[in-house]
Amino acid sequence: MDVTKVLHMKGGIGHSSYHTNSLLQKRVITITKPITEEAILDLYSTRLPKKLAIAELGCSSGPNTLFVVSVLIDAINKKCRQLERPCPEFQVFLNDLPENDFNTIFRSLAHFCGKLKEEKGDDLGQCFISGTPGSFYGRLFLRESIHFVHSSYSLQWLSQVPQGLESSNKGNIFISKSSPPCVLKAYYEQFESDFSEFLRLRSEELILGGRMVLTILGRRSADPSSRECCYIWELLALALGDMVSEGWIEEEKVDSFNLPLYSPSLEEVKSVILKQESFGINRLEISEVNWSTEEDLNSGMSEEGFSFDKQSIGHNVAKYMRAVSESLIASHFGDSIIEELF
Ligand SMILES: C[S@@+](CC[C@H](N)C(=O)[O-])C[C@H]1O[C@@H](n2cnc3c(N)ncnc32)[C@H](O)[C@@H]1O
Repeated sequence: MDVTKVLHMKGGIGHSSYHTNSLLQKRVITITKPITEEAILDLYSTRLPKKLAIAELGCSSGPNTLFVVSVLIDAINKKCRQLERPCPEFQVFLNDLPENDFNTIFRSLAHFCGKLKEEKGDDLGQCFISGTPGSFYGRLFLRESIHFVHSSYSLQWLSQVPQGLESSNKGNIFISKSSPPCVLKAYYEQFESDFSEFLRLRSEELILGGRMVLTILGRRSADPSSRECCYIWELLALALGDMVSEGWIEEEKVDSFNLPLYSPSLEEVKSVILKQESFGINRLEISEVNWSTEEDLNSGMSEEGFSFDKQSIGHNVAKYMRAVSESLIASHFGDSIIEELF
């Protein structure tokens, strides 16, 4: 599987799109918002730059794509008012893999910029937003040209499926309780090599003193096969197993499918950063996010207008998982199984 060519969140703005099914990821951005604000303000206050280059890596297409951009601009704009300084000009690079639905983002830009201008008035510095298609496991920007890198819920995706899994991870599509130790090792080694390369590349692109805020889907447990990160994919493997029994797909097709994903622990993230040596760590934290909040359950309605009783949570989780993984599954098994699978 060539991840760069295949992986993309479900595009458009329809019922099964990532646009419509990314509330969980929005919660994650909201949880980390104080950290993001603190980092950009610290950077701004130390350097007082006249122009700021910001990169959003793994931006996808949907309400979250520009959410962080507005958080960053808002924080700087308020700070400038406080300091009675002119607002800097912003250059924002929205990066994702080439198959990402950049067209939907581009269509929304005029509205986004118009709204910013309306809210902030003439104080707001010029804001130039552009798309940067490509893998963040390669160079994306000019040397020492970026002030701030943000990435949320994207770095758990690996550059490739670890090699040698086909014969050793039969019946599974990711790490699971029944995976032998060599599978866990292969996944960790791929993560270690990818994340280390990511840090090396960003250290070339960031200016000296630049900042990054990275949020990664990870795990609390030291055990990479713990339920917290693997269970959701085990459910998908079970559903694929059912489809084998029902004759929809061949067993070998399931055996040869593995996800290019890894959910690291805090210790694993820390150890790669320390070993790679390009970056210091200001904050390293772990937070928990639930598929649905108590408020959702109590109010009976999500922000997107889905009804949220306990029975419908499973349905919504399936939609979230579909928006994220459909491209990988369809490229391996074909489009025809998608509706039935989810
Ligand atoms: C779950 S989405 C998160 C999107 C958005 N940041 C959010 O919080 O809603 C993960 C995104 O990372 C992108 N991605 C995965 N691997 C990537 C890579 N190597 N380079 C650039 N983007 C990548 C995916 O295409 C996807 O759009």
